[in-house]
Formats: sequence, structure tokens, C-alpha cells
Amino acid sequence: MNATTYSNDISAVVAADRAHIWHHLINHKPFEAVDPRIIVEGRGMRVWDATGKEHIDAVSGGVWTVNVGYGRESIANAVRDQLVKMNFFGGSVGSVPGAQFAERLIEKMPGLSRVYYANSGSEANEKAFKMVRQISARHHGGRKYKILFRHRDYHGSTLATMSAGGQEQRNAQYGPFAPGFVEVPHCLEYRKQWDVEDYGRRAADAIEEVILREGPDTVGALCLEPITAGGGVIVPPAGYWERVQEICTKYNVLLHIDEVVCGMGRTGTWFGYQHYGIKPDFVTMAKGVASGYAAISCMVTTEAVFDMFKDDMGDQLSYFRDISTFGGCTAGPAAALENMRILEDENLLENTVEMGARLMGNLHALMDKHRVIGDVRGKGLFCGAELVADRLTKEPTDEKKVQAVVADCMAQGVIIGMTNRSMAGLNNTLTLSPALIAKPDDIDQITDAIDKALTRVFS
Ligand SMILES: Cc1ncc(COP(=O)(O)O)c(C=O)c1O
Repeated sequence: MNATTYSNDISAVVAADRAHIWHHLINHKPFEAVDPRIIVEGRGMRVWDATGKEHIDAVSGGVWTVNVGYGRESIANAVRDQLVKMNFFGGSVGSVPGAQFAERLIEKMPGLSRVYYANSGSEANEKAFKMVRQISARHHGGRKYKILFRHRDYHGSTLATMSAGGQEQRNAQYGPFAPGFVEVPHCLEYRKQWDVEDYGRRAADAIEEVILREGPDTVGALCLEPITAGGGVIVPPAGYWERVQEICTKYNVLLHIDEVVCGMGRTGTWFGYQHYGIKPDFVTMAKGVASGYAAISCMVTTEAVFDMFKDDMGDQLSYFRDISTFGGCTAGPAAALENMRILEDENLLENTVEMGARLMGNLHALMDKHRVIGDVRGKGLFCGAELVADRLTKEPTDEKKVQAVVADCMAQGVIIGMTNRSMAGLNNTLTLSPALIAKPDDIDQITDAIDKALTRVFS
């Protein structure tokens, strides 16, 4: 497949970018000497940069987003058709694609029934946080206002979501944060805090300890990623989720699952929590909902939560007094409907399970070959390989070497990721999240590139 040939004025674009764009998550000093990378076209799993170089994208748009791959004309057409008909109206009224997508979504989420639209993962999480606070004010006399979050998890870039942020480097220099957010320990067995047989249960017990320390009548909710993404691709060990559910029920703590990364098929089920048979009270999602074809996020909850906000017509403050202006934009749900149709019609969940198994198999083979790989983790097409200087002591590999592996892959035309400014000294996990359309050859091309990169960087 070839990219469209671009006219030779792309240098003007590069100059405009260098002069005016403040890119996300990156130090701009190097751009004084080298051009920023500009991606100009995408098809399937592949993207082309401004120089015409082709890359296979193993991270779905850098940040695990483009689940159905690039260049989907049917999504663009669905969005176009909807926008010329009715592009926007504030969310106190409904829209045709909004109602239709909500109905389709709820079919995939037994036990949940209400969808609140917003634009970003951070925003969806904030909606749930605000609901917890309002439930506290209206139903618990101001008690049960605290929100627990987990060390190494990430829930967004706004100040409230950073208050629930478990990554020191992300948070450094941005405080002070909002009060009422309390951290619980991570559950990464590879870097275990307790030397016990049943690590999953022990790590969950640590949540109970925090609840008891804080006082159960102060704790309203627990917010967790089903599988921690940017904090190191952490798949909770067996026994963890069952115990988390028990604890939430025991102390009447609402369970908020942040599916911003895992949602919409990434791990081989519609949602990550569905691997574990748990019953969340809030589920938030964003990235894969429309695969980046439009900005959309959803906060999904139960009828029981919804009912708490419509119990008193006489009280002017009783309902959820919140709006996200662009939550009323119809491009999001129009794109999301077509995105979901593609996931179903192309059997992409099944493909994710199959290709995910191949990816994990390949990574285990690389682990046998390269001692620098200390651990491989993942579920579906969401995997990580933690690099260590010493397998016995588990001393993390110098971050610069991890960056060199990523750069070597990039030079080979394979875009992979790594944990980035999350945990001091622990930005040592390579991350992979290819589009759910990946074929065996794509998976092998990605892991072959990593193989070569590891050989070059560590020999
Ligand atoms: C687990 C998780 N939650 C929330 C967010 C925030 O989403 P957004 O950047 O759309 O605000 C992210 C972003 O990477 C994420 O990984």
C-alpha cells in the first residue's frame, strides 16, 4: 500500500509546527535541532510521516486509541452525514446518534443503564468523581466523600484526575491537589510488596486496610484501571478482583472502573472488567470508543446511581448540575456507532484474543532469548515487556536504553511505546497496543523489530 504523494510544500507545515505547536508530553529542546515528526496519512495499521517513510503502528496512534485502524471511510462518512444533518445541540436535549449509541453500548454492559457523554477520558472520570461527591452531600450527610485510587494508575490530566493519579512523575510540580483522594498500593506481583502465596488477595486486602484506616464512613468510591496502562501494563493477579468486589460491597464503596484504555475490545472483551465478573457502579471510557475519528468519552452508570439524582423535584440542587458543551456534538456518537459495527462485523474481539496470544507468545520467545526482558505482561492486544539490568535483583534498565530500543524500532519503521514519565526509575516497560485488525504478519514484524533492537542496544 502506498501513501498519497504529497506536494513538496510539507516543509511549510513543518516550519509552522516548529514555530507554533506545543506538542503533548514532550520536551521541545531537541526541536531546535531536529524537525518534529508529522504524520500525514494512515491506512490500516500503517502511517506515513512527512518524509514519506512508512511505519507499522504498534501503539494505535501512540496512545492506544485507533482500535479499528486508520483510513476508515465508513466512519468518516457516518460522521459527515450526521454533521450536515445535525451537528450539535447542548446535551440537555437528545440526539439521534446519541440515543442509538447509548442503546448499543448498554447491550454490551449488563447491569449498567445510563450514559453521560463528554469529550475526554479525564472528563469522564471527573463526572464520576463529581457524582460521588454529590451522593456524599445528598445521601450520606457529607460523609463517604473520599475517593481511593491505586499507586501506578492514571486517570487523566486535569487537576482532579491528577489528584487521583498514582504516578509520581506525572504529578510532580502540579500540586497542590484536591483533597479527599487517597492512594492504595499497586498490585504488580513482579515488584511485590508482600512475600505471600496468594498475592492477588493480599494486594486487594491492602485496599481494605486503607478503608479501615481512613474510616469506612468517609470512603465513597474506589477508582481503578482494569489493567493499569501507562503505569506499566499491570494485569492484576488471580484473586484480586474477586476480593476487591467483596470489599466494595462490604463497606458500601462505589466501584469506578476506568476503561479509557481497555474499553472497546482492547483486551479481547468489550471491557476489561468483563474478564473478572465484577459489577462496577461507574465505567468510564474514551480512546477506543470512536477510535480517534471523533472526540467522545462516556461515563456509564447504574439505574441505582441515576435514581439518586432524580429523587426530589422540589430541591433545586438535587440533580446532576453538570455539562460538557461538546458532549452535545453528534460526531462522537455517530463515529462510535460505526466503530462498534466494524468491531462486530469484522469479529475484531476474536481477532484480538488470537493475535494477543500470538503477541504474548512472541514476547515470551524474546524473553527466552534476551535476558534484559525481566517480565512480560498483558491481555489481548495490550502487552508490555519490562526491561531489567539484572533478572535476579530486578534492577530496572537505564531509561536511556529503553528509549534507544524504541528509537531503533522507529528507525526500522515500527512504532512501539514505553512507560513515559510515570514512575521515577521505573520508566522501563516497552508497551504494545496494535490496532485490533492486526494480522499474524503484523505481529511478527513488530516483535522481529524489537528482537533486532534489543540485540543492537544490549550487545
Ligand atoms: C487509564 C486512563 N484514564 C484516563 C486517561 C485520560 O484520558 P484523556 O487523555 O482522554 O483525558 C488516560 C489517558 O491516557 C488513561 O490512560
